[in-house]
Amino acid sequence: MKTHIFPDYPQLCQAVAQNVINCVNAKPNALICIAGGDTPLGVFAALVEAQKQGHVDFSHTQFLGLDEWLGLSKADKGSCREMVWHHFFDKLTLRDKQICFFDGLTTHPQEECQRVDRYIDQHGPIDCIVLGIGMNGHIGFNEPGASLDNTCHVIDLDAVTQAVSVKYFDTQRNVQQGISLGLKTILAAKKIVLMASGEKKAGIVAQTVNHPASRDIPSTLVKTVTQASLYVDKAAANALE
Ligand code: PGA
Repeated sequence: MKTHIFPDYPQLCQAVAQNVINCVNAKPNALICIAGGDTPLGVFAALVEAQKQGHVDFSHTQFLGLDEWLGLSKADKGSCREMVWHHFFDKLTLRDKQICFFDGLTTHPQEECQRVDRYIDQHGPIDCIVLGIGMNGHIGFNEPGASLDNTCHVIDLDAVTQAVSVKYFDTQRNVQQGISLGLKTILAAKKIVLMASGEKKAGIVAQTVNHPASRDIPSTLVKTVTQASLYVDKAAANALE
């Protein structure tokens, strides 16, 4: 897996965004998936600006959500839906039919998984996916030990993920489960950009690069596919040799 190191977060985000732009310029109706969370916020901003400047046109692009906290909706600040809409979809003025996103409020999570799997069967494979790396190495909500055979599924969240989750929310949430694309779908994407920023990710970035591919650290599995690259800023690359 090729590693690209950038001096700072803005340059990292610009480079990651360029991958998405290239993909959409080559295939206007591409299926794009970009993680929620803090890491891609600058990528969203760069993509919104690129559309504004006329460097890309998302009007035919399909967008797929990566994951969601079960029990949370767009009205909950810090939900994946709230973050992605607020920072990205609302600013691109997309049509509803361009977006497929997990409904965290579903009362039938298995049916919700089937709905999204059907969408992927119709529109997939994903042309370009941008993933963050969790502090425990998760990608999407594929936590340590996740199965390589999983498509969309419900997950009992790891203790690390539950502890980290408080940073997203303005009130106390007791999130215990998530709903996510599975490793099978993620690793079948035609292009995978794994990204990390900041000193706090330096340890897991080094493990991702140095540890043999293992389900214990899902981010290491990305190394097993040739279409994947790692994009990090200098701070996140701190522990790399
Ligand atoms: P973060 O989350 O971007 O907020 O650090 C990454 C992740 O958990 O995948």
